[in-house]
Amino acid sequence: MTLLALRDVRFSYAAGRPVLGGVDLEVGAGEAVGLVGESGSGKTTLLRLALGLAKPTAGTVRFRDVPLDPRDRRQMRAFRRSVQVVFQDPYGSLDPRQRVRAIVAEPLRSLGVEGDHGALVAEALRAVGLEPDAAARFPHQFSGGQRQRIAIARAIVAGPELLLADEALSALDLTTRIRILDLLRELRGRMAILFVSHDIGAVAALCDRVVILEQGRIVEAGPTGDVLARPAHPYTRRLLASVPRLVAERTPNP
Ligand SMILES: Nc1ncnc2c1ncn2[C@@H]1O[C@H](COP(=O)(O)OP(=O)(O)O)[C@@H](O)[C@H]1O
Ligand SMILES: [Mg+2]
Repeated sequence: MTLLALRDVRFSYAAGRPVLGGVDLEVGAGEAVGLVGESGSGKTTLLRLALGLAKPTAGTVRFRDVPLDPRDRRQMRAFRRSVQVVFQDPYGSLDPRQRVRAIVAEPLRSLGVEGDHGALVAEALRAVGLEPDAAARFPHQFSGGQRQRIAIARAIVAGPELLLADEALSALDLTTRIRILDLLRELRGRMAILFVSHDIGAVAALCDRVVILEQGRIVEAGPTGDVLARPAHPYTRRLLASVPRLVAERTPNP
């Protein structure tokens, strides 16, 4: 079952040259897909389109076969419950004045989710490996890695079908990066993950399939093991040459 489908998606910022030049991308239910490319290749722009935050200049973005219409409020509300995002910066993305309990519960409030929010928050904190007493504390009382766990708890609290992660590991030190990667591996299967990274080694450890983006175009795509073992495109070979060994040597998918 396909959750997210981009068809010949093109995008330009006002009066600029095309940032995405006709992208086809699918993410199936429970699947983990890596989107790899250098800085400026269009990864974040693609995620913004997948989130309905921007409209393609041409082409379509569908979720569960329904074209996204950012102006359709009812559709967007249901959609936001299904698709959540984690960003790179574990410091900037959490409101410093709110307790973790309120931060993690935010999607439940804004989406009007019924039920016991306290229990859902506790379950999300448990799922990301934080102690229950984290709920009463403030973001500044946590390390960068713990903050990223809080951001992930917020992203999964309403039970999304698809989690978008935009360079979610790149602000973290190597040890923390591996821990958060392990957490994402635990979540994989419970939800689909579109994992945006310029770190092909982290993608190898998490993703079933990988899509390589160069200057707004997909230059290579396929099962992660195949693409890494036999990169067909010079750009992919160049990216592979810069993989940190520690991450690269971790086992790919079970
Ligand atoms: N708000 C914006 N206005 C104009 N150009 C932008 C904007 N955001 C990104 N860009 C440009 O679009 C291209 C792709 O950016 P981005 O999607 O952020 O790439 P990535 O996430 O892969 O680093 C870059 O050339 C960038 O300068
Ligand atoms: Mg980006």
